[in-house]
Amino acid sequence: MKKDRILVTGGTGYIGSHTVVELQQAGYSVVIIDNLSNSNRDVLDGIERITGIRPDFVEADCTDMDALKRLFADYPGIKGIINFAASKAVGESVQKPILYYRNNLNTLMNLLELMPDNGVKGIVFSSSCTVYGEPDVNPVTEQSPIKNATSPYGNTKQISEEIITDVIASGAPIKSVILRYFNPVGAHPTAEIGELPNGVPQNLIPYLTQTAMGIRKELSVFGNDYNTPDGSCIRDYINVVDLAKAHVLAVERMLEDKSDDKIEIFNLGTGRGTSVLELINAFETATGVKVPHKIVGRREGDIEKVWANPDKANNVLGWVADSTLEDTMRSAWAWQCRLRERGIM
Ligand code: NAD
Ligand code: WQD
Repeated sequence: MKKDRILVTGGTGYIGSHTVVELQQAGYSVVIIDNLSNSNRDVLDGIERITGIRPDFVEADCTDMDALKRLFADYPGIKGIINFAASKAVGESVQKPILYYRNNLNTLMNLLELMPDNGVKGIVFSSSCTVYGEPDVNPVTEQSPIKNATSPYGNTKQISEEIITDVIASGAPIKSVILRYFNPVGAHPTAEIGELPNGVPQNLIPYLTQTAMGIRKELSVFGNDYNTPDGSCIRDYINVVDLAKAHVLAVERMLEDKSDDKIEIFNLGTGRGTSVLELINAFETATGVKVPHKIVGRREGDIEKVWANPDKANNVLGWVADSTLEDTMRSAWAWQCRLRERGIM
């Protein structure tokens, strides 16, 4: 049986594209809206090569209310939305706060406003472990305190969660699942889609794979004097395909009324903390490729350690992150090699 139509905003982006693949493989029909500000059309080819299905695609900006209204008119029967569309570079958000508040918040508010009249039942929202700041205790549960945001980007996630909560509290006939991602990494095992960083990568894995490829001279490890076993920072690196699968479960939960709660929050992580040095080691072991690196000073604003308690997602959503770190590292490397083959990087 053909399942419902789902609107995926930011669906040609990194996490969005992997989620579109999983949705289509689960039988959903997908409409993507993306303004291609941080992705490109070729991603649609990758999705089609993996699934055999080309998703409907609308090139438009979610801050453009008229464009969204046209989309709902042109693609009737959308039952759920997954909202990935956002600007996500932490450093840039400090330089351009208005761009971040406008893009991330207007996108969400436009969607929330249009949902009831268009019969859309639920929205899945991409939040982040950034809301926990530097936690007092690890692993963090969904009840762990929310800390003051340290960047406009992080603040947009906190405010977005509050906006959704307030709109649902006002009686809007919609549901929401808020997913707090830890550190998404890796690529689809086919190497047809993956992360496409713009310019010099700020995040660890793209910098690491580009260094392994010889595009960057060496990877800087930001600090080895933290209060962690090897002195480097600890994160919870979550495989992007595992992450994508959680979205399918979240959509099902909302649309099939598997919960009476109108709003639910889940941490999406592995429950395992990995240090920067351990990650480099895992990459080298998994791929046999060396990563030239050196220890440098701490990066301003870095969190020392954070990892998830994913029990709620495991027990309530029925989701587990089951990829090994080695498989994830191999997928990241295969993707980097594919970019090289295609002459992209
Ligand atoms: P991404 O930049 O690869 O994908 C976002 C997509 O949204 C891009 O294709 C971009 O072109 C599009 N977009 C941005 N603004 C838009 C707008 N106004 N209208 C239409 N399209 C727009 O980012 P990603 O890593 O896939 O992240 C997806 C979501 O997950 C974001 O909301 C991000 O904040 C959140 N998130 C990401 C991470 C991470 O480390 N990657 C961690 C936690 C949360
Ligand atoms: C990971 C670790 C660095 C680069 C960011 C956002 C957060 C969330 C995920 C969206 C850290 C170290 C990195 C390098 C290094 N995004 N590192 N050398 O900082 O955990 O989180 O992305 O919501 O909001 O802040 O991810 O990949 O930048 O860093 O040593 O060249 O790698 O110090 O310990 P981070 P990251």
